[in-house]
Amino acid sequence: MHVVLLGTAAGGGFPQWNCWCPPCRAARSDPRRAIPRSQSSAAVSADGARWFLLNASPDVHAQLARLSLPAPTAVRHVPVEGVVLTDAELDHTLGIVLLREARRLQVAATDAVRRVVEDDSRILTVTRAFAEVSVTELVPDRPLGLCYRDGTPSGLRVTCFPVPAGPPRFASEDRPGHTVGLVVQDGRTGGSCAFVPGCGGLDPALLARLGATDLVLFDGTFWTDDELIGLGIGDRTAREMDHLPVSGPDGSLARLGGLPSRHRVYTHINNTNPMLLEDAPERALVERAGLRIGVDGMRFTL
Ligand code: MLT
Ligand code: MN
Ligand code: ZN
Repeated sequence: MHVVLLGTAAGGGFPQWNCWCPPCRAARSDPRRAIPRSQSSAAVSADGARWFLLNASPDVHAQLARLSLPAPTAVRHVPVEGVVLTDAELDHTLGIVLLREARRLQVAATDAVRRVVEDDSRILTVTRAFAEVSVTELVPDRPLGLCYRDGTPSGLRVTCFPVPAGPPRFASEDRPGHTVGLVVQDGRTGGSCAFVPGCGGLDPALLARLGATDLVLFDGTFWTDDELIGLGIGDRTAREMDHLPVSGPDGSLARLGGLPSRHRVYTHINNTNPMLLEDAPERALVERAGLRIGVDGMRFTL
């Protein structure tokens, strides 16, 4: 299985258009010190030619250009076979409407996520005015075989599991399954990848699940709990925003550092997170614990 990190920043991207926090300043003035990043999404493929997106970001058009593709044989060529959603947040779903020219799209999502993109953000409803969009329900702990648009099995299967989080701000209801993590497994090679871009806590059961995979892509939104408050640009803590901070005795780094997974990588990194700076001591701490800070274009073969 091939895995490509298409985007590794949280909502807003890095640098964020209206932000002049220290990392955003550095990304503008010296991109060698702080590599710009687009909004979080990943792509998986069994054959390196036909891809499934894990979330569809508002940067999806530029991101698709990072995928290796065979030379198209028709005037129109859709390199996306399907989109698997972890939640209905805007940074994870706005890309669906931007793929409407595909004419036919496959989405896999929990029933709770489907309801939010149909009834609250209406992203799916709007897309359906242009394209046929089928939704296959993801049920926690029930593996779903991912099929290509022509119906043939890809050999990849995805399993979802609820993670601690609240629903999106614009959701009219708080239904179970509104935020999940994903494990994608290649039935042929046995390789597996966990994708958890938004997660408010890590209990032993969740850690064990992540530790059983070869590649863990995990929520690296904030370095500290009071990051936005300290910069004077927010009034909620990281935990109140359902993002477990990276640092601290109860942070994600302390927990993920002990996992046996071959690769452990942070993604969905907010532009305020100091670990984005190439020369930051925070980055060195992450690397010393055996984790990596995701960057757009990072790829893995599992
Ligand atoms: C999040 O990651 O908490 C959300 O994407 C927030 C947002 O949409 O701004
Ligand atoms: Mn987000
Ligand atoms: Zn910023």
